[in-house]
Amino acid sequence: MKQFTQFESRDLGQELIDLGLEYKFNPRLDIQKGQGKRIGCIFLNPSLRTRVSTQIAAQNLGMEAIVLNMDKEGWALEMQDGAIMNKGTVEHIKDAAGVLGSFFDVLAVRAFPTLTQKQEDLSDFVINQFIKYAGIPVVSLESAIRHPLQSLADMITMQEYQVENRRPKVVLTWAPHIKAIPHAVANSFAEWSLGMGYDLTITHPEGYELDESFTKGATLEYDQSKALEDADFVYVKNWSSFQDYGKIHSTDPSWMLTQKHLESAPNAKVMHCLPVRRNLELSDEILDSDRSLVQVQAKNRIFAAQAVLSKIIE
Ligand code: CP
Repeated sequence: MKQFTQFESRDLGQELIDLGLEYKFNPRLDIQKGQGKRIGCIFLNPSLRTRVSTQIAAQNLGMEAIVLNMDKEGWALEMQDGAIMNKGTVEHIKDAAGVLGSFFDVLAVRAFPTLTQKQEDLSDFVINQFIKYAGIPVVSLESAIRHPLQSLADMITMQEYQVENRRPKVVLTWAPHIKAIPHAVANSFAEWSLGMGYDLTITHPEGYELDESFTKGATLEYDQSKALEDADFVYVKNWSSFQDYGKIHSTDPSWMLTQKHLESAPNAKVMHCLPVRRNLELSDEILDSDRSLVQVQAKNRIFAAQAVLSKIIE
């Protein structure tokens, strides 16, 4: 595996899920594998889970991890090729990524979307500039349009909790938020759930349709209560409008998931990638109940990253 930026195939997905579960059972199984190797974790945006879980994953493989909070500690990067750098940017990505590529064996990058430049975001411009100029394997720590490590952790979690011999019903439900939130988690969750063969229903208010290239094969249901009927897993997430790019059309509080919403899905487990705005996106009563898998998902971020790094350094 040379890069990890998106879902590739059901076979590879299953291999990574199985390896992640193996590492969960025995985190230091491959402690010798990464000896002498170094990963650079470059953050252009804030993070709690991704930052720490990737570092722990690297340590579990015997690798050294160095984190650079580029947004606060690094030079302002110029991303455009051929730019005349007479404004705010200090260092060109060509130079910075080249240097990082010579320092590390693997580069991991978090680069959120602009939510204003749709075509640039859709091309995953920033992470692709790192791939173009680093010359070493690159792992996405969340790009403009995908969050594959989160989705791999989510797939590991669903495999752990799914009832044997039944294809679970998975529902991705939009939740209210006061800020314009990227589509990456929702896109990736749809991409991985469909790729791994889950029965996926997506529900949201009209105007919040996701990019069809990620949701083809899912059932779209605008009636949230209908969508939630008999669900096994309910994934709660806000995202801004894709059509009216990056805009907020609704903050309708009736979309916030509560226990009442789940009366028709008595066995449903509830998921969220975190950070979550309590009692805006999801109620305390759900987050603090046995239904909630959010802490399991967060812990599985370690083993998802460990499985990916293990394959990359193979
Ligand atoms: N879920 C997730 O990626 O969390 P962080 O933004 O804190 O890394």
